[in-house]
Amino acid sequence: MKIVVAITGASGSIYAKQLLAQLALFPEVEVGIVMSKNAPDVWRQEIGEEMLFSPRFKVYDRSDYFAPFASGSAKYMQMVIVPCSMGTLGRIAQGISDDLTTRAADVILKERRKLICVIRDTPLNLIHIENMRTVTIAGGIIMPAAPSFYSRPTSFEELADTVVQRILDQLGLDTKAYRWGE
Ligand SMILES: Cc1cc2nc3c(=O)[nH]c(=O)nc-3n(C[C@H](O)[C@H](O)[C@H](O)COP(=O)(O)O)c2cc1C
Repeated sequence: MKIVVAITGASGSIYAKQLLAQLALFPEVEVGIVMSKNAPDVWRQEIGEEMLFSPRFKVYDRSDYFAPFASGSAKYMQMVIVPCSMGTLGRIAQGISDDLTTRAADVILKERRKLICVIRDTPLNLIHIENMRTVTIAGGIIMPAAPSFYSRPTSFEELADTVVQRILDQLGLDTKAYRWGE
């Protein structure tokens, strides 16, 4: 299973960090990572360390259109943008493929594959809402990074995992998550 994980300059680097740590536990999952110019700065600000990923995962430059997932012929069937900035969301909604993240999202949508945009902003203006609407109509999934509290998380990491588990569910990956009623 091949998945693209794009990290943008929105707040919420912890979600990307913990999602990638979870994905590394699935030997059958191949991950291509791409990040925006601002993503490393936000990560440093919020996590206080440099980005470090599983050596199994390949990191592509944001302007590398030779990356496999820049084309539909490479069978990357799912893409998660986590966290997804409003800028990136807007560019995807308008079909502006000016970097590898927006090009890959464009490809995923045209191939009718799964695009998951984990947005964080609150409140939202009408432009955000219209862009979310457009991406949804085009087949994308808008997934607000809205943690849940019913599992009684006791740390930032546990709280972030309540979002990460839902992303893994969307990707069809089975994990030992807290599940209501079980
Ligand atoms: C610490 C920090 C937090 C930010 N949080 C957000 C955010 O939550 N949402 C957002 O849309 N932009 C946020 N920004 C601004 C984006 O990084 C900026 O708009 C950038 O141009 C987005 O481009 P990108 O999508 O290519 O990363 C933040 C910037 C910084 C430095």
